[in-house]
Amino acid sequence: MKSILVMNGPNLNMLGQREPGLYGHSTLADVEQLCRDAGEKHGVVVECFQSNHEGELIEALHNAGRAVKAGKMIGVVFNAGAYTHTSIALYDAIKAAEVPVIELHISNVHARESFRHHSYLSPVAVGVIVGFGIEGYALAIDGLVAKLGSK
Ligand code: DQA
Repeated sequence: MKSILVMNGPNLNMLGQREPGLYGHSTLADVEQLCRDAGEKHGVVVECFQSNHEGELIEALHNAGRAVKAGKMIGVVFNAGAYTHTSIALYDAIKAAEVPVIELHISNVHARESFRHHSYLSPVAVGVIVGFGIEGYALAIDGLVAKLGSK
């Protein structure tokens, strides 16, 4: 059975408490359960990882790239939080690891401050899901499987 890595970046461990008007009342644990349920529908194992540290996210992308090459993983659903708008290092890591990534944002970043309108990750993502709340994670898993298959 292949896997999908759902990776959340900085401040997403605060889901549920953090600006609920924007991000909702569900916690990260709720999101991770939603992802595991979405994976199960496709016969895919969902692994979850959250970090507030850029280097840890980079290393997780490198490892995911190796797992994809070994035929064990389909790809990564990645909410990089604010690093989306700042991190050339994450852009480089996705390219270096040659790992299929769906970029995801809970909120509609294009309807927010202008500094959120630019993403370093979109050019190296296979797709982008924006503004669907936490249901976007299930859509991203569906999209990754639809695009790349689960076998
Ligand atoms: C976010 C949007 C980012 O701009 C912000 O920095 C986040 C969360 C989202 O899920 O909507 O931390 O990625």
